[in-house]
Parts: sequence; C-alpha cells; structure tokens
Amino acid sequence: MYKQRMQQKVDNIKTQKNIIVLAIETSCDETSIAVVKNGREVLSNVVSSQINIHKRFGGVVPEVASRNHTMAIVNVLDEALHQANLTIKQIDAIAVTYGAGLIGALMVGVNFAKGLAYINDLPLIAVNHIKGHIAASYLAFNELTPPFICLVTSGGHTAILKVDDYLNHTLIGTTLDDAVGEAYDKVARILGLGYPGGPAIDKLAKEGEPNIKFTSRDKLAKTFNFSYSGLKTAVINYAHKLKQKNIQLPINDICASFQVAAIDVLVEKAIKAAKIQKLKKIVLAGGVAANSYFRKRIDARCLEEGIQAYYPPRSMCTDNAAMIGSQAYYSLINGKDLADLNLTPKPNLPL
Ligand code: KG4
Ligand code: ZN
Repeated sequence: MYKQRMQQKVDNIKTQKNIIVLAIETSCDETSIAVVKNGREVLSNVVSSQINIHKRFGGVVPEVASRNHTMAIVNVLDEALHQANLTIKQIDAIAVTYGAGLIGALMVGVNFAKGLAYINDLPLIAVNHIKGHIAASYLAFNELTPPFICLVTSGGHTAILKVDDYLNHTLIGTTLDDAVGEAYDKVARILGLGYPGGPAIDKLAKEGEPNIKFTSRDKLAKTFNFSYSGLKTAVINYAHKLKQKNIQLPINDICASFQVAAIDVLVEKAIKAAKIQKLKKIVLAGGVAANSYFRKRIDARCLEEGIQAYYPPRSMCTDNAAMIGSQAYYSLINGKDLADLNLTPKPNLPL
C-alpha cells in the first residue's frame, strides 16, 4: 500500500521544478543528515562525528557506533532542518544509506528513515553508500556530468569505475585484498599515530622524504587491480627491523614513502583507464580523496595528459549525508530505488 502510494507521489514529484531531499547517513562513525535541493545544492549538511569517542579504542567499535548514532540522530535532524530553514512538511523525499557499512550503524539510520517517511507520508529512497561518495562531486562541480572515470578510495573500497550515467557504473579494477584507507589506518597504528590514520600520515608525510622503497615490481601492473596487503607488510617489517636494532624510526620518511607507493599506483591506473575509455574526466571519491598528496598528484598527472581532475572539498570526501541526498535525487527523477517499509540494511552491498 505504502509503496504503491509513493510510486504515484514520485511520479508527481518528478514534474516539480524544485525537489528537496532529506538524506540520512549512518554507515560508520558519522551521524549525518542533510537537505539537498535538485541534487546539486546543499541547503544543510550536519555531520556529528564520533571520531573522538573511537580514538581511544584505536578504531571504530561497531556497538559503540550504533549507540552513539541513536543518541545523536534526533538532534542532528533538528539541526539539519534548522540550518536549511525548512520544516519536514517542505521535504519531498527521505533518502537513506542502506549499505555497505556496519550492520548496527546502518540499522539506526534505516529505521529512523523509515519512521520519518511513514509518519510524514514521504517516499523513501535507498542509497548505496559508494554511489553517494561518487555523487559528492556533483555537489562541488555544477558542470560535472557522467560519463567519467572514478577512483573510489575509502576505508572499505579501492576501485576504478567507469561511471556511465547517474545510476550505472562499470567496474574496471578493484583491490584484491585491503582497501587503501585500511592500509593507511593500519600503517598509522603500527607507527603509533592513532585513529584515523589517513590524516595523520598525510600531515607527517609533508615533513618527510619518500626515500624508502617499500614495494618491488607491481605484480598487477598489467591489470587495473590493486593490492595493499604487501605494502602494509613491507612497512611493518621495516619498522620491526629498525626497532630490533634500537634505531629510531624515521616516521616522516616512512609516511612519505608509504604514501607515494600507495597513491601513485592509483593515479597511474586511473589515467590509463581514462585513456583506454577515451574519457577526459577523472573524479576522486571517498575518504582517501581528502589526501593532499593524492590531490596534488592527480592534478599534476591530469594536466600532463590533458584530462580534467575533480575532487570534492575535504569535508565532502569523508562520510556525509549531502552526497547521499545528491545520489537520491538522480534515483528519484529516474523513478529508481524507491524502497518499501520493509527495507533492511545490507552491510555487504556490492559497489
Ligand atoms: O569514506 P570514508 O570517510 O569512510 C568509508 O566509507 O570508509 O573513508 C575513511 C578512510 C579512512 O581509512 C581514513 O584514514 C581515510 O579515509 N582518510 C584519509 C585522509 N582522510 C581520511 N586517507 C589519507 N589521507 C587523508 N587526508
Ligand atoms: Zn564512506
């Protein structure tokens, strides 16, 4: 009943000049709610981060994340509507991340979204978290339209995609083991830099020289796939050997060297993919896209190759609900991803 009624509603919404989506994101350790107009304009994007809570455990504790989402979500909703200067009555649809992510964390957002959709008689749009990360660049660059090559680099994903249109993409390459963000976090942990590792390594690498060779030949050089577990092990072994000899670790140089090894391969494979696909646009998406060396390197290489590089502002690279609202708009206007009230989280939702 609800879904049938919403199907009709969506048909009407599609004809509106302005479409306003309220989006909810709770897949990991950020409780975020945003209000987005026509998929491109952020009216509000409130992010309540739990980083300080998880820091002392050295990583995200799933149960703690769920509990904190539950405690924060009502206030985050109030603040998101307040900052957008709107009431819930002025919202056209509710969007929610339903995967991939931590099951308990996703459950808080999904159930909250279902309740909100039901009591306000609004359509509910189910959004894939990674599609949201890709959409973050639509908010930052009004002129950006598919098709383009996208490098998705986060704590859980490392992939090169050809984004065919707003709803579909083709996987070109992916990691065969760890994600690049995961490698950042693990290396930071070994070096005692705390959680999350990415920003800490990013900062220290600026003070170091990339003079340590961690990887030998890239065994996957001829493919578009990646491997990060070997690089991580190389850093662990290097640090271990120096510690055994009681030599102080050159932390800054390790960070700079790890970073060059981790990022250059991403950049080069994305450029190669763009050339093969004859596409002149490369978009960075996901938390690791906040990395300064990554941004500098993609700019430089794209300039050399006559390709345009796009990446969102840092706050839009890491998890936020505005990116979910942007993706949901494109689902909505194409009549896709309308969920029923039996929507359940999918922790392992594929790309
Ligand atoms: O996209 P995201 O916020 O969450 C996931 O969907 O995974 O990405 C989080 C990842 C973490 O591994 C974090 O260390 C990494 O992004 N990250 C960075 C930087 N900022 C965040 N990695 C490298 N440099 C950064 N500046
Ligand atoms: Zn993410």
